[in-house]
Amino acid sequence: MSSSELAQLSTLVDGLHKRAPHVPRVGLVLGSGLGSFADDLKSITKIPYAELTGMPVSSVVGHAGNFVFGTWEGVPVVCMQGRVHLYEGHAAPTVVRGTRAMAKLGATCVLLTNAAGGLEPSWTPGDLMLITDHLNLTGTTPLLGANEDALGPRFADMTRAYDPEIMQMAREVGQAQHIALREGVYAGLLGPSYETPAEIRMVRTLGAQAVGMSTVLEVIALRHMGVRIGALSCITNLGAGISGNVLSHTEVEETARAKRQDLKRFLGHWIALAGENA
Ligand code: HPA
Repeated sequence: MSSSELAQLSTLVDGLHKRAPHVPRVGLVLGSGLGSFADDLKSITKIPYAELTGMPVSSVVGHAGNFVFGTWEGVPVVCMQGRVHLYEGHAAPTVVRGTRAMAKLGATCVLLTNAAGGLEPSWTPGDLMLITDHLNLTGTTPLLGANEDALGPRFADMTRAYDPEIMQMAREVGQAQHIALREGVYAGLLGPSYETPAEIRMVRTLGAQAVGMSTVLEVIALRHMGVRIGALSCITNLGAGISGNVLSHTEVEETARAKRQDLKRFLGHWIALAGENA
């Protein structure tokens, strides 16, 4: 990590420290159309990214751009309401600066959500998928360059990138709440164009069940720091060429929004379990 990246991360963490009402235990990253969960927390402190030196601001519709501190069933939580992406032109370390800051503030477990294209023809838009592993196909990593030993080791282990216990908690929530949960591998691509049908066939052949433009860099950065991860995709559409429909961000957002109540209920129970046990 460059010294300027480290300085910017420190500035961001200092800025958050000054305004944070508590040390968070669980961090949440809320993706496209999924940000409204943060508004349901208790004792909310909302900090717009634009008010924080060092925090990049997302230009994507559907990504609000706030850190939200609050409690959920007694668990101190920090949320990122919206994230920045590589395709917006940010470097990988900038993309993960906010998630690294959540870990620096004390979050030992982070749950990430995203909107994704489903690669199984039998799946339906609106399905929820627990991410069990990923393919980082972005061509970059936030760990590029000199290692920052204070954050983690040079060669971060990714064997259990998605924490087996946190995945098990998700399965228990799905069963108890009667919310069907798919499972699979998430392929993270650069974007911002959606894939061609040939690229969708490629990622299916590589072993993915979902495809998207986020999450994998955040997971790498957080695992480097030893943070435990859970991640959930809202399957907002089938991958290009699978259904014959064309893809649009409006459809992605609308499907995520239509699924909001189930997703909120799911997340609420998952956070409570993870906050107690992780
Ligand atoms: N591809 C890539 N990213 C996505 C998709 C998709 O089909 N749907 C939502 N995010």
